[in-house]
Amino acid sequence: MGILDQFNLSGQCAIITGAGTGLGREMALSLADAGCDIVGVGRRAGPIEEVGELIKAKGRRYLGITGCDVTISANVNDMVQQAAAGMGRVSVLINNAGLGGSGRGKTLPELTDEDWLSGIDSNLNSAFYCTRAIVPHMLENGGGRIINVTSGWGFRAGRNNWMYPIAKGGVIQLTRATAMTYARDNIRASCIAPGLFPKTEDTSILENIGPKQPAGRIGFLREMGPLAVFLASPAADYLSGTTVLMDGGAIAAGLLPAGIVPNAAG
Ligand SMILES: NC(=O)c1ccc[n+]([C@@H]2O[C@H](COP(=O)([O-])OP(=O)(O)OC[C@H]3O[C@@H](n4cnc5c(N)ncnc54)[C@H](OP(=O)(O)O)[C@@H]3O)[C@@H](O)[C@H]2O)c1
Repeated sequence: MGILDQFNLSGQCAIITGAGTGLGREMALSLADAGCDIVGVGRRAGPIEEVGELIKAKGRRYLGITGCDVTISANVNDMVQQAAAGMGRVSVLINNAGLGGSGRGKTLPELTDEDWLSGIDSNLNSAFYCTRAIVPHMLENGGGRIINVTSGWGFRAGRNNWMYPIAKGGVIQLTRATAMTYARDNIRASCIAPGLFPKTEDTSILENIGPKQPAGRIGFLREMGPLAVFLASPAADYLSGTTVLMDGGAIAAGLLPAGIVPNAAG
């Protein structure tokens, strides 16, 4: 097998949560370029259908599952059943859906139970539910690859920034627990920690922060695709339980200690 053949995902099928926008969309398109069929999952129909058209135009099979809230385990269980029924073997799961910002800047006593639960649901419980739902299918079908998406916030804390860093730290541990538990079942779990990449709603903020980054810029969405392809591919067969930072050196630099100044929202 030639070196580039090891990155070929032909015959594989990946479920990607939050596939319609941002990093999830980019990873879906890149996996499709590498030969993978895709199950795109999200709540809104528009983005999931739009990315589906692009994937089908590449000659891949595509199943869009919309109205699926991955913070609700019954939705997730249904989604995995639909994916297996529609596509056959699912060999890759990318737990990408997540939501920053919930309750950020509130002091600890101000945080409500709802703030706490919504942050943990969106960013940690969702990945746990998807992992729990797909593992039996992977065990029955010879294994698989689970790729979680954490954040630089999984490695650091910020003043009055509770749920997102705590949940994203949990995602790193979910990755390790999955990797260790299924290490002998050909299920590999890895994790991507993005630095700053543009999101539709806050591009201008990120552009302002970009020049302060070690690389002098934020990430381009297209830069996330090759890493996802690698982690999903046979080239990463011996890689498990680890988290790969894709952040232009931000964590290495200790950059963006947002919120360390007392009373700053950060
Ligand atoms: N962009 C960055 O700089 C950055 C940095 C570090 C980490 N990350 C992480 O990378 C991941 C993707 O972020 P992004 O920036 O690409 O965000 P994004 O553009 O807002 O995409 C998030 C996607 O997840 C879906 N989603 C959110 N909550 C969901 C739910 N409960 N059920 C089903 N789908 C849900 C959304 O679709 P619907 O709303 O239609 O459901 C959306 O397509 C997240 O886990 C985020 O924490 C991003």
